[in-house]
Amino acid sequence: MTDILKAIGALRLVPVIVIDEEENAYPLAQALKAGGLPCAEVTFRTAAAERCIRAMASDPEILLGAGTVLRPEQVDRALEAGARYIVTPGFSAGVVRACQANSVPVFPGVATATEMQMALEAGIEVVKVFPAEALGGLALLKALAPPFSMMRFIPTGGISVSQLADYLAFPPVLAVGGSWIAPKALIAGHHFDQITELASQAVAICQAAPDGAATGQ
Ligand code: 3PG
Repeated sequence: MTDILKAIGALRLVPVIVIDEEENAYPLAQALKAGGLPCAEVTFRTAAAERCIRAMASDPEILLGAGTVLRPEQVDRALEAGARYIVTPGFSAGVVRACQANSVPVFPGVATATEMQMALEAGIEVVKVFPAEALGGLALLKALAPPFSMMRFIPTGGISVSQLADYLAFPPVLAVGGSWIAPKALIAGHHFDQITELASQAVAICQAAPDGAATGQ
């Protein structure tokens, strides 16, 4: 397991960020860090994503990833901006190759056993399961995991704080992803103290859970 995987497995939670305003990026990263969550997956869903990654990356203590990476050329842009890992909503062989060529961890999204096998063949050991809740949530993970005992999951999509402990108690789950920690409206409204509070609340649950980097198959 790489250092980045270990760090994510120790935090157990990846805040998924959709942000429009570059000026809010650094305060947001600091708010997450103040809540005990020095980590963010900044999605390439907004025009400002790359600039926001760059602004957040000025604090080296923030473990920054780029999410919603759909095309290989976005990998270079994300890494150039300061991202240290890449997340994709589905499996793209081109994006995976671009990440591997840069020796950067990539967590491709999977929804089926076929996509798990594609990821496995590509040498991936950790996948995002997306959209986790709509696919069947923990029941889906429990059904999907047994043939893939060498792989770990980052379920994301529709997961709320109330479900966090249950997901984290399942050993193949390395970490959980979610946007509830930093909702777009709180970011836009500069309610960074509330984001710190949401992060602290989630971190308390993560700390009570088994260490993701140490558990699993
Ligand atoms: C993602 O991009 O990973 C998801 O949109 C996050 O899902 P959530 O907004 O339901 O937490």
